[in-house]
Amino acid sequence: MVNVSVCIGSSCHIKGSRKVLNRLQCLIEQNGLSEKIDFRGAFCMGLCKPGVSVSVNDEVFSVDPETVDDFFEKEIKSKI
Ligand code: FES
Repeated sequence: MVNVSVCIGSSCHIKGSRKVLNRLQCLIEQNGLSEKIDFRGAFCMGLCKPGVSVSVNDEVFSVDPETVDDFFEKEIKSKI
């Protein structure tokens, strides 16, 4: 199981966390990975970054709405 959390804290919200969350949800479903990924929203991780903070198994990444697809391939799918 891969744990993925998208920060929905206020700083990340302004940077598009809703878009990132929706797109990731969509990619997880399209790839049939709902059973393999524990996907959730999280409050401020205390690691506000230039983009939206997304943690994958405790490693925190900075993701923009424009880079979600790449991020999904490189950092999530590769860990399954
Ligand atoms: S608001 Fe997202 S890490 Fe702080």
